[in-house]
Amino acid sequence: MSEASKRKEKKQSTPAVEAVEETRETVFSSAPAEVSVEAKKKILFVASEAAPFIATGGLAEVIGSLSKALARDDRYDVRVMVPLYQDIKKEYRKDFKFLGNTYVALSWRNQYCGIFEYRQNNVTFYFLDNEYYFKRPGCYGYYDDGERFAFFCRGVLETMSFLGFYPDVMHCHDWQAALAALYLKTIYCFRPEYQFIRAVFTIHNIEYQGQYSLDILEDLFGISNQYQYLLEYNRCINLMKGAIECCECFSTVSPTYAQEIKDPYYSHGLDPIIRRNEFKLRGILNGIDPEYYDPATDVSLFQNYSADDMAGKAVCKEELQRMLNLPVKPDTPILAMITRLVTHKGLDLVKEVIEQALRQDMQFVLLGTGDSSYETYFSDLARRYPGKVVSIISFNSDLSRKIYSGADLFLMPSKSEPCGLSQMIASRYGTVAIVRETGGLRDSITPFGAGGNGFTFRDYNAYDMLYVINEALGVYRNKVIWSDLVHKAMTTDFSWASSAHSYEEMYLRLFN
Ligand code: GLC
Repeated sequence: MSEASKRKEKKQSTPAVEAVEETRETVFSSAPAEVSVEAKKKILFVASEAAPFIATGGLAEVIGSLSKALARDDRYDVRVMVPLYQDIKKEYRKDFKFLGNTYVALSWRNQYCGIFEYRQNNVTFYFLDNEYYFKRPGCYGYYDDGERFAFFCRGVLETMSFLGFYPDVMHCHDWQAALAALYLKTIYCFRPEYQFIRAVFTIHNIEYQGQYSLDILEDLFGISNQYQYLLEYNRCINLMKGAIECCECFSTVSPTYAQEIKDPYYSHGLDPIIRRNEFKLRGILNGIDPEYYDPATDVSLFQNYSADDMAGKAVCKEELQRMLNLPVKPDTPILAMITRLVTHKGLDLVKEVIEQALRQDMQFVLLGTGDSSYETYFSDLARRYPGKVVSIISFNSDLSRKIYSGADLFLMPSKSEPCGLSQMIASRYGTVAIVRETGGLRDSITPFGAGGNGFTFRDYNAYDMLYVINEALGVYRNKVIWSDLVHKAMTTDFSWASSAHSYEEMYLRLFN
């Protein structure tokens, strides 16, 4: 028997633990990754949201733009599965094609699962339908989210058999998709069609792990108690932990965050699991879709512009000031924040020193929603500083683009930030980022003093942040240096080009 067929034979009867053991060899093999493939490899993304259909945050953007980047040039067969939520945009939904239905077993339940298809940018999207679970407003926050996403994940594996599509890689994103990896490795891998599917898991934010009581493992998730050890953590079911244990490879969305989550300060309790599985961990920086975020073509902007012709940016600033009832002053810098109003975004630092910063000639614009204490604080700040501070407590994509283009500086002082996309979008629109050096912020923004594309500070300290805000306001006053910096920010490559290649390399290693 040849080496290859021996390997194949070994893989045919691989239950969960052996699968992990075997991966140790695969991932650590010192042989360089083969970057060329004979047959087109099939990649399936499993995620709880995907732009442009349904989005509550960065995850959706990554699913939409990374799948598109991988599918370019027709080198991979890329497909994506997401739930068919009620809120999926009508403009797309009307063109979904109904393919048929299957049934999904969750312990004693047997649930209908409709399958809809839509193709875009060479990517095939499937939407899994069950009105009982998904005909509700929004995506998350229901008492039965565990059951809803268990249905979705098991539905993903059943849909494979309905379609006769068995991917080479099933790439699951965040806890809502974690059970797909667990079902594959505990139930489906014993069926011949599923045995060669490799599972990859990406952590977009380790804060949300999917924790449930242990009693529901069999009765709700339909996973036999013999596999409890895979999911159990601190006497709970922890879906993220389970996916990390049983996938062949896992990643997170920036190299720095991949280091940080080994540390209790960032790990939300999961650092022992991350460290134990470190041998199969990677950090790959997210990109943004440069066509979707292009100041030269963006229809939301008051006027278009590009790095080579910046006239339009001044118009964007003037119109933004007018729209927000701020004094129209071309030489007064606008510092903007577009953020969820939650603690890890560094809002405590802002609260501590923003009034000191406001003593200078500047305007401050904030757009976002979140914790009511922050909403109240920023609304109140705007009332106390009329003509200087504007707080818009809402989530509005059109307005966000007007702010990205009309502002001069963009503040993102996160306590932790797996990747962050806003600092990249702001830079692309010529709005210079001020960030704390954490996660993807550290990997995408480099300090002006060292010839970089923005301003950074290291420690989570309000006065360190104030220091760099003042530094940035100082540099702003020097028109020549400032326009060089803006040019540098705008021409930094934030596209998926190199990161999509890193994902490819990660997948291809799994086939060796
Ligand atoms: C999560 C993270 C954010 C990241 C995004 C996409 O929302 O909090 O930092 O950019 O996922 O990966």
